[in-house]
Amino acid sequence: TGQEALSRIAGADDLDTLESLRVEFLGKQGSISGLLKTLGKLDPEERKVEGPRIHGLREAVTEALAARKAALETAALDARLASETIDLSLPAPEAPRGSVHPISQVMDELAEVFADMGFAVATGPEIEDEWHNFTALNMPESHPARAMHDTFYFPDRNDEGREMLLRTHTSPVQIRSMIKQGAPIRVIAPGRVYRSDSDATHTPMFHQIEGLVIDKGIHLGHLKWTLETFLKAYFERDDIVLRLRPSYFPFTEPSIEVDVGYSNEGGPNGSSRRVVGGSGDAPGHAWMEVLGSGMVNRHVIAAGGLDPDEWQGFAFGTGVDRLAMLKYGMDDLRAFFDGDVRWLSHYGFSA
Ligand code: PHE
Repeated sequence: TGQEALSRIAGADDLDTLESLRVEFLGKQGSISGLLKTLGKLDPEERKVEGPRIHGLREAVTEALAARKAALETAALDARLASETIDLSLPAPEAPRGSVHPISQVMDELAEVFADMGFAVATGPEIEDEWHNFTALNMPESHPARAMHDTFYFPDRNDEGREMLLRTHTSPVQIRSMIKQGAPIRVIAPGRVYRSDSDATHTPMFHQIEGLVIDKGIHLGHLKWTLETFLKAYFERDDIVLRLRPSYFPFTEPSIEVDVGYSNEGGPNGSSRRVVGGSGDAPGHAWMEVLGSGMVNRHVIAAGGLDPDEWQGFAFGTGVDRLAMLKYGMDDLRAFFDGDVRWLSHYGFSA
């Protein structure tokens, strides 16, 4: 009966049950569809009565199905919303956080120290030609110093017929700066350099910061003051001890290598190299070479397009990776480039 159909629809408690009721009543084989088909066979008087009754029944069932469907969907949505409630008082899961790599951090620290001393930043290409990397720096083709650089060469020459290589130092930026901006000059040039070499204190790719000052009347005293001032600022201590040794670079004359005293004791790994002040000759201490420097050779000033009788200058090149190691107490340079998050967080460079 109609009452029964309506109460079954009202009692359906999920959408699947409701759908099977729709098929049962209104589907092709459905009971109400069946009733509609019988109308044709009735005589006109009976049809006048039965027609509206059956159509009315179909309408009532259709409406009841729609109403029940809406009610069930609303209930389902309410249930989902209730179950998906977010408890804003719960602590958030901790997300891993990145941080600045020690090399980048030290590069930034050094750039800041030099900016305070009035140095601008210059750059040059990592893929260099042998003229800028060697020849212009007073290392002609057969110069023995070229062999000391363990250079990575490219198989092809460039359009000017020059051999191409990965720069072995940032010193070619000295030449590029002089040619590009003329004198006077006060720049640093930070960047990657490459040599075929690897052990605890050498990696095939490493970082240098070149410094170049060209002006009138520049002498060794300016160089010494600059190096002392920047190393004290960088290590944040006045008691660091430098050792200046006479050395040789084809592009400086005279040339000086600078060592800094560091301690081998303590530190996170038991024996980290760390600058703690004091001489490298003190007990538990040693010296580490941190930079090469000197007065710019007149041939180099001339190769840069300047008159060496008018302009003088000094230059230096420091190993950024070693400076990082000595400030933060790390003992193996190679770990800088392993990308091991455990190592980075051990030294406080990652969350
Ligand atoms: N280019 C030298 C090196 O890589 C360092 C240096 C730079 C020395 C400038 C003197 C002057 O070893």
